[in-house]
Amino acid sequence: MFLFSTLAFCFSTSVIYGLDNGLARTPPMGWLSWERFVCNINCADDPENCISEKLYMQMADRIVDLGLKDAGYEYVNIDDCWMEKARDNSSRLTPDPTRFPNGIKAIADYVHAKGLKLGIYTDCGTKTCGGYPGSYEHYDTDAETFAEWGIDMLKVDGCYADPKEMDTLYPQITTALNKTGRPIVFSCSWPAYQVDSGMQPNYAAIAEHCNLWRNFNDIEDSWQSVLSIIDFYATHQNDLVAAAGPGHWNDPDMIIAGNFGLSYDEAKAQFCLWAIMASPLLLSNDLRNIKPEFTELLTNKEIIAVNQDPLGMMGKRVYNNSGIEIWKRPISPESNAQYSYALVFFNRRTLGGPVSVTMQLSSLGLNNESCYSVYDVFNSSQHEKFCPPNNVTVKVNPSGVTMLIAKIFV
Ligand code: GAL
Repeated sequence: MFLFSTLAFCFSTSVIYGLDNGLARTPPMGWLSWERFVCNINCADDPENCISEKLYMQMADRIVDLGLKDAGYEYVNIDDCWMEKARDNSSRLTPDPTRFPNGIKAIADYVHAKGLKLGIYTDCGTKTCGGYPGSYEHYDTDAETFAEWGIDMLKVDGCYADPKEMDTLYPQITTALNKTGRPIVFSCSWPAYQVDSGMQPNYAAIAEHCNLWRNFNDIEDSWQSVLSIIDFYATHQNDLVAAAGPGHWNDPDMIIAGNFGLSYDEAKAQFCLWAIMASPLLLSNDLRNIKPEFTELLTNKEIIAVNQDPLGMMGKRVYNNSGIEIWKRPISPESNAQYSYALVFFNRRTLGGPVSVTMQLSSLGLNNESCYSVYDVFNSSQHEKFCPPNNVTVKVNPSGVTMLIAKIFV
């Protein structure tokens, strides 16, 4: 009897409780304010672009009106700088009263009425990166507050915290979220801060406790920034691919199509590569002033279907030579351990016009003897049959991509 109870005790204390929300079976899609609107709190001089309830309500309207909701975009996410500079008398976080006069719950009600979901931001340390109150030592209270407000996704940043302590801090937040009983997608910055301080993140633990996690630097509105993220992912792809799957995703940061820094081809390259990487698709742009070609890109059904593929297998770079890269992701349908594939041909050259790339399918690991039905994601009605010994030839614009789908016959 004594032995039994000791064993039972050891067992119960050694069980690690992970996140149990059952969410994000495919990468979350939505909109996030940070890259485009940063910490603009000057509503007096810039009422249209400051961090305020109006901004989030307008973006919710545009997500519906532009057809983004129908394409799968669901979350409207508040980032840093929404708070009052101090907690209230009962130690609760409160929004800035001039910029959020009706409180956060009113925004949640507004977006929920449109069939959308609301995300918010806090920090596991003593302050947010913008200097607002952090959640350190308030994890349970803050999780309860967010649940009461009707929050559906929480991004927890890592400023003003010790990266070495994150292996215990982030799981405490997971537990606090589980305790609320409300399903809230949990976005962590845990590995990003550890990588930055030279540590090797424990991706198995991270994948157990977070639905998505930032690994690397913040995206900015430039091609240079996008390339640096792509390079980080290619360099670390074996660890990152092993960590990703339904319910738990690497997050290379926001989609910036429709802003100022990327050409159309560069925006297309980012979007297609993010689909290969099974990345969350969180747009950070001004949906009130987006050019139609970018909306068309961001609602491309074929690219989104790759991103949202139910197998949830993250892709990686399989070819890299003279400025030409090929990225490949296994997708459905599958049959007898044979997968279909999404292929992105990426031209990093910046001199000259479109480059013609020819590849034998078998050299890319496409060996299914029943062959493949192949098409371009921008021309999905034109399919052609290719078998493993056949060559495919594509033209790829400089700083651009061509994306093909190769489906097995089932
Ligand atoms: C950074 C984070 C950004 C944004 C910003 C807010 O650390 O990576 O995505 O949230 O803080 O201050």
